[in-house]
Amino acid sequence: MQAPVLTPDAASIARAAAILKDGGLVAMPTETVYGLAADAANADAVARLYAAKGRPAFNPLIAHCASPDAAFSQGKFSDQARKLAAAFWPGPLTFVVDAVDATTVCALARAGLDTLALRVPAHPAARALLEAFGGPLVAPSANPSGRISPTRAEHVASDMGDRVDLILDGGPCTEGIESTVIDARGPSPVLLRQGSVLPEDIEKVWPGLSSGGDGDKPTSPGQLLRHYAPKAKLRLDAGAPEPGEAFLGFGPVEATLNLSPSGDLVEAAANLFAMMRTLDRSHTRIAVAPIPPGGLGAAINDRLARAARQD
Ligand code: TXA
Ligand code: MG
Repeated sequence: MQAPVLTPDAASIARAAAILKDGGLVAMPTETVYGLAADAANADAVARLYAAKGRPAFNPLIAHCASPDAAFSQGKFSDQARKLAAAFWPGPLTFVVDAVDATTVCALARAGLDTLALRVPAHPAARALLEAFGGPLVAPSANPSGRISPTRAEHVASDMGDRVDLILDGGPCTEGIESTVIDARGPSPVLLRQGSVLPEDIEKVWPGLSSGGDGDKPTSPGQLLRHYAPKAKLRLDAGAPEPGEAFLGFGPVEATLNLSPSGDLVEAAANLFAMMRTLDRSHTRIAVAPIPPGGLGAAINDRLARAARQD
């Protein structure tokens, strides 16, 4: 079914917020590109979002907030990071910071990391939706994996119209390229992705910007987009646990924890990082049941393989 394309007004914003509360997906305009929004706190909704994108891997997502204060309640911002946020928010600058313990952004949206990417968008429709929704929304660009980012509602409608619940048409995006992403955790900022805020403009507010490469294609892996790695040793495609191993199950098997007793890949994706963390606290060895390769299974197996390699 093709999603309705609606002009943002009080009624369509309220309808979009209700869809998001129910775990649905809404394409929302931002000043950079159209985003595919889901409730950041709802792991099932985030799993459906990855499935709709057709991503072969779980990349951490940007959590969009209604105000700087809302963002500061999710992540740890240094004084200098706050100063930079004051200069560019609302706007196309994304900050990677350490998540606060009480963050409501679920582990799947963070790809299991303890860090968090946060942005306060400037587009009036995005702001209205965030206000009406009342919590952070994760939103990767609203294109299928491997296609270019959409800058008009009709791009979203033709590429993703059958995979979202509602498209808000806020007109063409004024920036047209994605937000600039910086790692704001250290004493000086590191550029992770070039975008519509220029390095020289960041320099004026927080000097010492170094370039770390693209978050998607890290030039120095390990320093940049580290993957969640458990301390425990993982054994994949295990039919049953050996003595001393925890068993992370899938489907109708007896297990220490079960990603999805009914064999549902969306449910499994939603549980993946949280369950790995739980078992990592109680065990030094974890056996993982085979996960079928189709659909979200590819992304789940990708993350499990990385976790097993511990790189
Ligand atoms: O302009 C934009 O940023 C758009 C609009 C919709 O807001 N969103 C967007 O999201 O481009 P996405 O998911 O396509 O890109 C998110 C970027 C990726 O490069 C990802 O690696 C990086 O942010 N990122 C997210 N969380 C991160 C983290 N914890 N550490 C490092 N990089 C992170
Ligand atoms: Mg993208």
